Amino acid sequence: MFIAPGVPRAAGGPTWTQERTLVAVKPDGVQRRLVGTVIQRFERRGFKLVGMKMLQAPENILAEHYQDLQRKPFYPALISYMSSGPVVAMVWEGYNVVRASRAMIGHTDSTEAAPGTIRGDFSIHISRNIVHASDSVEGARREIQLWFQNSELVNWADGGHHNSSYPG
Ligand code: TYD
Repeated sequence: MFIAPGVPRAAGGPTWTQERTLVAVKPDGVQRRLVGTVIQRFERRGFKLVGMKMLQAPENILAEHYQDLQRKPFYPALISYMSSGPVVAMVWEGYNVVRASRAMIGHTDSTEAAPGTIRGDFSIHISRNIVHASDSVEGARREIQLWFQNSELVNWADGGHHNSSYPG
């Protein structure tokens, strides 16, 4: 059963929420053949893949995606980098997946990213940091709607042998 992001499973039930987040392998991650590595880390953790596509990101999507950064000096270079090749956009579902995925990708600035994180293991510069993950539940909701049609998300049944849901 799919539980909408941020919605408690049942009134009076355990106080966990099921979330979804947007993760995207950026053009440098695709060029460096790191798509499988990124997917593997999320699968290994127990999160559930419910949407995935490869695309050359249209400029209007990138502009909306990075709207908060429009006045930053690095914005033009960011858009040009994100347009430089295809990205692989994914939606992952699971318990606290928004916060967990931020921890898994690591600090924005690769120099500060801890070893063991995706950025800390594979990147040395903030402007080529391999992967994106939404930074809040609200941001995730907005970004998933921006990058995916509802019909592109698959609500497949989880057999219960994984930990994408909190046991309880
Ligand atoms: P931001 O949303 O601050 O970070 P994050 O991706 O960790 O959520 O920034 C978006 C992207 O912009 C970031 O992944 C890489 C790029 N960027 C730069 O190129 N230079 C910078 O100084 C910053 C802060 C970000």
